[in-house]
Amino acid sequence: MKWFKALNNNQIPHAGNIKTISVNGKQLCIINNEDKISATQSLCPHAGGHFSGGWCKNGNLVCPIHRYEYSLETGRGAEGQGDYINIYPVELREDGLYIGFEESWWSKLWG
Ligand code: FES
Repeated sequence: MKWFKALNNNQIPHAGNIKTISVNGKQLCIINNEDKISATQSLCPHAGGHFSGGWCKNGNLVCPIHRYEYSLETGRGAEGQGDYINIYPVELREDGLYIGFEESWWSKLWG
């Protein structure tokens, strides 16, 4: 796992807000659901809706386009959807929010 600093402490979204950022070459949504911070892919796998206009409900992220729901814990789509989103590990450190990315086999070989 490789960790990248994503935001300073004062840039972390407040409860109920979603912020779009770019980190490690990927666009992600940083979500504050009742003061629990999550990082997800920014586009909905259903039809490409942008999660920045979405909201949280019962621990799920709701897409604003057709209201598909995804667990903020596992990324799994609600029953019947048969899809999922990527959830990235987050760590709040003294100097801000860090996001973890799995290292691919080739980056381990070539650094
Ligand atoms: S684009 Fe997200 S639910 Fe359809």
